[in-house]
Amino acid sequence: MASYDVIVIGSGPGGYVAAIRCAQLGFKTACVEGRETLGGTCLNVGCIPSKALLHATHQLHEAEHNFEKMGLKVGAPKVDWKAMLAYKDDTIAQNTKGIEYLFKKNKIDWLKGWGAIPAPGKVTVGGETHEAKNIIVATGSEASGLPGVEIDETVVVTSTGALELSRIPKRMAVIGGGVIGLELGSVYARLGAQVTVVEYLDHITPGMDAEVQKGFQRLLKKQGLDFVMGAAVQSVEALKTKAKVHYKLRKDESEATLDADVVLVATGRKPFTDGVGLEALGVEMTERGQVKTDGHWRTNVDGVYAIGDCIAGPMLAHKAEDEGMACAEVIAGKAGHVNYSVIPSVIYTHPEVAAVGETEETLKEQGRAYKAGKFNFMGNGRAKANFAADGFVKILADKKTDRILGAHIIGPMAGDLIHEICVAMEFGASAEDLALTCHAHPTYSEAVREAALACGDGPIHA
Ligand code: NAI
Repeated sequence: MASYDVIVIGSGPGGYVAAIRCAQLGFKTACVEGRETLGGTCLNVGCIPSKALLHATHQLHEAEHNFEKMGLKVGAPKVDWKAMLAYKDDTIAQNTKGIEYLFKKNKIDWLKGWGAIPAPGKVTVGGETHEAKNIIVATGSEASGLPGVEIDETVVVTSTGALELSRIPKRMAVIGGGVIGLELGSVYARLGAQVTVVEYLDHITPGMDAEVQKGFQRLLKKQGLDFVMGAAVQSVEALKTKAKVHYKLRKDESEATLDADVVLVATGRKPFTDGVGLEALGVEMTERGQVKTDGHWRTNVDGVYAIGDCIAGPMLAHKAEDEGMACAEVIAGKAGHVNYSVIPSVIYTHPEVAAVGETEETLKEQGRAYKAGKFNFMGNGRAKANFAADGFVKILADKKTDRILGAHIIGPMAGDLIHEICVAMEFGASAEDLALTCHAHPTYSEAVREAALACGDGPIHA
C-alpha cells in the first residue's frame, strides 16, 4: 500500500494531463490505467489513430486527383491495407510511449489495473488499496450504441472496430452523421468504399453553424459519400460477412433497408464510470449518467473530483485536458479556470471543419444583434495553388461593439486556423483587431483576416 497526495483514475487526455500538472505542482501523484498502454480512448482507439488513417488516405486522394495536375507522374497508387494499419499502430505506440516517458520524467506512478474507490481517500487497484488525499475521476466515455443493434466489432462496429477492419469494405453504412461517422466515413470513401451515412436529423453535425452544415455536406457528397437524411435506424441484421440496416424515414414513416459489408454505429458516446464504485460512495450523478461536479470539478464527496468526458460538456480531448490542468490547480489552492465559451471543435476531414463560440443560430435564439463577415478560400492564393480552395471563413461579431462572438471555418487547415480566433476571443478582441493585424502572404491565415475585414469595410480579395 502506498500513500499519495493525488490519485488520478484514467490516463486519457484528461487524466494524464491532470497527473502531470499535479506532479509539477509538487504533489506525490499516481495514475491508474487498466489498458496495456497509457493515453485512454484518444490515443489508443480515437483521435490519434483516426488522424493517422485520415492523413494516409488524404495522401492517397492527393496522389489520385492532384499529383498529375502538378506534373507529378507516379503511376496509379496502390493501397497496402496491412501496412497502413501498421503505420497507424506505430503512430499510437509512439504517442502512448511518449506519455510513459512523461510519467517517468515527472515521477508519476502508473498503477496498472482498473481502479475503484471503496471509501473516501482510498483507491483499490488489482487487489491492492492505496491512500490518496485527493482522487480525480477521469474515466472517459464509451460508444453509446443503439437499441436493436448488436455490436460485434467485425461487421457491426463502433469507431474502435472501424480502426482495425480486416479488409476495406466495398459498402459501408454509417449510422450517425456526426464527427465520428464523417471522419471515418471519409477514410473508407477515400479507400474506395461506397459509404452511405444514415442520419436521424435533416442535417449533419448537430450543433454546428447551419451554413457550415450545408456547405460541408455538399462537399462530402462531391467526394462520393451518400446520405439518407431524416432516417431513424430501427435495427441492424448482422450476417457473417454483411449486414442489413433497417430504417424508417421520419417524414412519412416509410421503411427501407440498406445492405453493407460493414456498419459503423456512430450515434454518440456516453460517460464511462463502470466499476469505479461511485454510486456506493454516494457520488451524485446527473440523469445522463455524468458525474455531477461544481465549478471547480468537485463532486459532492470530499476529496473526489471529476473531469473530462465523464462529466458534463462537450466530449473533447482538449476540454478534458484543460479541466485536468485546472483541477490540479484547484487542488493546489490556485485559481484553476476553464473558459467554456472558447473551446474550439474540429472535424478532421478534408477540407477540415472548425468552430468556436456562437453560431448564427444561437445568436438569433438569444436575440443578439450581430454581423457576419465571410471570405471564400477561392479568393486565397495559397489555397488555389494547393487545390484547397473549397470552403470559407465566417466570423461573427457583435453589431455594436465589433467584439468577436464566434467563428466557423471549412477549409484547408481549418483546425489550426481557428486558434488565431480563439486567442482573439480570449483577449476580448474586435473583428477590427484581427483585420488590422498583419498576416503573412501567402498563407491560409489571410482568409481569417479577410473574414475579419468583411465584418467592417469589406475584404480586399472578394
Ligand atoms: P455525435 O453526437 O457527433 O453524432 C451522432 C449522430 O448520430 C447525430 O447526428 C445523431 O442525430 C445521429 N443519430 C442518433 N441516433 C440515430 C439513429 N437511430 N439513426 C440515425 N442517426 C442517429 O456523435 P459521434 O460522432 O458518435 O461522436 C461522439 C463524441 O465523440 C462527440 O461528442 C464528438 O464530439 C466526439 N468526437 C470528437 C472528434 C473530434 O473532435 N474531431 C472526433 C470523434 C469524436
